Amino acid sequence: MKLQDKNIVITGAADGIGLALAKRFLHESPKSISLIDINKSVKDMASELGAEGYVADVTKENQFQSILNQIINKEGSIDLFCSNAGIQQFGTLETSTEDWQKNWDVNVMSHIHAAKVLIPHMQSRKTGYILITVSAAGLLNMPSALSYATTKHAAMGLAENLSIMYGNDGIIVSTLCPQLVDTNMVRSAESLSDDHPLLKDGILPAEVVADEAVKGIDAEKFLILPHKEVAKYIQGKAYDYDAWIQAVRKLVP
Ligand SMILES: NC(=O)c1ccc[n+]([C@@H]2O[C@H](COP(=O)([O-])OP(=O)(O)OC[C@H]3O[C@@H](n4cnc5c(N)ncnc54)[C@H](O)[C@@H]3O)[C@@H](O)[C@H]2O)c1
Repeated sequence: MKLQDKNIVITGAADGIGLALAKRFLHESPKSISLIDINKSVKDMASELGAEGYVADVTKENQFQSILNQIINKEGSIDLFCSNAGIQQFGTLETSTEDWQKNWDVNVMSHIHAAKVLIPHMQSRKTGYILITVSAAGLLNMPSALSYATTKHAAMGLAENLSIMYGNDGIIVSTLCPQLVDTNMVRSAESLSDDHPLLKDGILPAEVVADEAVKGIDAEKFLILPHKEVAKYIQGKAYDYDAWIQAVRKLVP
């Protein structure tokens, strides 16, 4: 899909990949860009970019859906929705039930809250695009990040299902699945020491990920893989699941 003259909405847009997407999309001459984030700084970021900023928690169904409806009323449509807000938590069995719920609410339910507004909206227009920022962790798992990897797998399944169910209605779904990206999420992760095995394929700048997202949207690809190695790893996983599990086991620090 070409982004020229499109109304675009991005969640988790005050920082990191979401903000990089907003900056990159501006080069494509969209009609409008609306940024949503729980962090109030989204207002300043938006005004710097000449975009609209909305403070909202994507896990609060009513609040989030009312902002989406507000944007539809103001701009006339949402043509591209980037469901990008996410949280990452390291840890395994010690992750509390409360933290599991937080991961589930942000990394999975937020996409569902949005889909309940956007799928009918896009069906009525017979066109629309949803980009969900998942992660390579949703395809290839991630040692020592049990709740993150599990909820990102759920997000992947959700994206596949939306694409299968609504593709015939003119709705395109893509998943953005990078490995590590140089954002606050990674910088603030104390358990990611410089020699951590997960760093072996490198950390991409958010700008490179945003550029790959634009190329993927242009080509209407379901799977957008900024780290090219990921395609090879998925093939290996499908070819021999047991060998793949043994290989990933070697990444356990
Ligand atoms: N950084 C990475 O290595 C990496 C890799 C793969 C996928 N991802 C995914 O990319 C997406 C963006 O992550 P990032 O690296 O830019 O992280 P980030 O922490 O820099 O940015 C995330 C943004 O989401 C916002 N946010 C968090 N919870 C929210 C909520 N409940 N409601 C509204 N906004 C909320 C934060 O305020 C922040 O501005 C996430 O879904 C993440 O899982 C990141």
